[in-house]
Amino acid sequence: MCGIIGYIGERSTTEMLLAGLRSLEYRGYDSAGIAVVGSDGMKLLRSEGKLDNLARQVDPSTMNGSYGIGHTRWATHGRPNEENAHPHRDCSGSIVIVHNGIIENYLDLKKALTDNGHEFVTETDTEIIAHTVEKYFDGDLELAVRKALGELEGVFAFVALSEKEPDVLIGARNGPPLVLGIGEDESFIASDVPAFLSHTREAIFLEDGDVAILRKQSVRVVDIDGNELDRKPERITWDPIQVEKQGFKHFMLKEIYEQPRAVRDTLLGRYSLDSGLVHLNELSLDDDFVSQMTRISIAACGTSWLAAQVGKFYIEELARLPVDVDVASEFRYRNPILDDKQLVIGITQSGETADTLAALKASKEAGAKTLVICNVTGSMATRVCDETLYTHAGPEIGVAATKTFTSQIVCLYLLALHLGQRLGRLTPEDTRGRLADLARAAHIMEQALELSEPIMEIAREFYLVDDFLFLGRGHLYPIALEGALKLKELSYIHAEGYPAGEMKHGPIALIDDRMPLVALALDNPLFEKIASNIQEAKARGARIIAVITEGDDRLIPILDQDRDHVIRLPRHPDAISPLISVVPLQLLAYHISVRRGCDVDQPRNLAKSVTVE
Ligand code: AGP
Repeated sequence: MCGIIGYIGERSTTEMLLAGLRSLEYRGYDSAGIAVVGSDGMKLLRSEGKLDNLARQVDPSTMNGSYGIGHTRWATHGRPNEENAHPHRDCSGSIVIVHNGIIENYLDLKKALTDNGHEFVTETDTEIIAHTVEKYFDGDLELAVRKALGELEGVFAFVALSEKEPDVLIGARNGPPLVLGIGEDESFIASDVPAFLSHTREAIFLEDGDVAILRKQSVRVVDIDGNELDRKPERITWDPIQVEKQGFKHFMLKEIYEQPRAVRDTLLGRYSLDSGLVHLNELSLDDDFVSQMTRISIAACGTSWLAAQVGKFYIEELARLPVDVDVASEFRYRNPILDDKQLVIGITQSGETADTLAALKASKEAGAKTLVICNVTGSMATRVCDETLYTHAGPEIGVAATKTFTSQIVCLYLLALHLGQRLGRLTPEDTRGRLADLARAAHIMEQALELSEPIMEIAREFYLVDDFLFLGRGHLYPIALEGALKLKELSYIHAEGYPAGEMKHGPIALIDDRMPLVALALDNPLFEKIASNIQEAKARGARIIAVITEGDDRLIPILDQDRDHVIRLPRHPDAISPLISVVPLQLLAYHISVRRGCDVDQPRNLAKSVTVE
């Protein structure tokens, strides 16, 4: 939920830190700060608000050094203001820390440290890390950090430096991500790869319990006792340009338009139309486990939880296996009934969501087989689980998930086909037709993206309303929920998604001429049902935005030309409708948010990866 970075090397430390923080701002942006150490000692600057506020105050010609750390914050403890902005210092001011996570026992530690004469100046939990390191520091920062770790409880990733021990950075990970970038006579430590990708592709993903020691010419990784660990660098294949906006106004819009490529890349090499077979070679689920599997549970959060709900339809229909879906924050605490004949799937684009990680760890401890569908190589979830099925959406910078969502749905469809085949419930002929449908999805999504202009016109009419209702049925019910989630998280408009059949059981009381209703009324077996829901809503004054299938005009007679709107999607197979019908809802949320002047890529109060409970 925060972005942290450290740099040590020959280049302008200040500029490297600011550039790195710029690429990490999606992780949190309510305050920022840097500390650099040079020949004239340490300089530290922090500011409230966006990174721009800090960058305006920094002059690299007078504030620079050979090593330093930086932070962009998403507040957990302590108001988002300058005083609580990182880096935080010890009593001497010579040890500084940047931190991502929560120190759960910080109040106990703060009291003990205060009783021993330490003075605190902030409300944050982070500050106690600096004072705890100070307590053990006698000139060896690595040793002091390792000793301090023995007192810290919670989830944290932090980087420390000391003015009294020049040219070394110490990083520690226990939960939130921390990755090293290994350059020529320089090294980086950061929350995520984009912070250093334009300078080096050699990365070491730290694991829980790792302590990293960075110097200009060397990087070491040890455990809390100081034992050397053999962490091999991995080569990052992303193209740094993928992380830039490439002419789009927002990362989110770029990522909405990248969906066809993300879908194609996620499919690539995983099926053969000739043989009608799905090849998920990265999985090693053995035949005995697959044949004896009794149940699948899927745990996820937010948009990933909605992908899970679509996946339930696919897996139950194609593999005929019962699937439970639950939000990870509930799953982890409800003591689920699990055993070694069950598969628990985690879906998390970041691979770092605390609740999803906890659900997967608990499932593994209960003896279940665990599999994660994830978009970030080397993320914690991929290290916790027995199996990983990667989406290949490329880095997703916009806080609102878009291309990772549709890529997750593709992975779930492939997994359902794969399991159906292995369980003998699908013949290659059955599968070939469905794969052909899936192979067409990217092209149909490209056609759906051409609707952006008319959808922007609809957004112009509705951007000032206070409430929205989204309705869907069957495997489009989760898409209605996703449309509502996109709208609320981007535009701060209250929006609810509902299974259309539930209207009579309460939500219809909300309907009047101030409540627009977005209905997914595609040409599918449930069309007649949702058409009657739309009629019931119209009879009570609702304005309708209906997403229908090109060439299916059955709904037109019940709509008013001057009040209601239709969005015509290209005709497509019902099985891939979740992939196609989410596109107009993403665009609607995007255009309404832009018209309302909201910060599309960094919506208020949100962060791209929720690494704490
Ligand atoms: C989606 O637009 C939101 N940003 C949020 O709900 C997100 O899906 C959720 O936090 C889960 O993130 P994850 O996929 O990285 O676990």
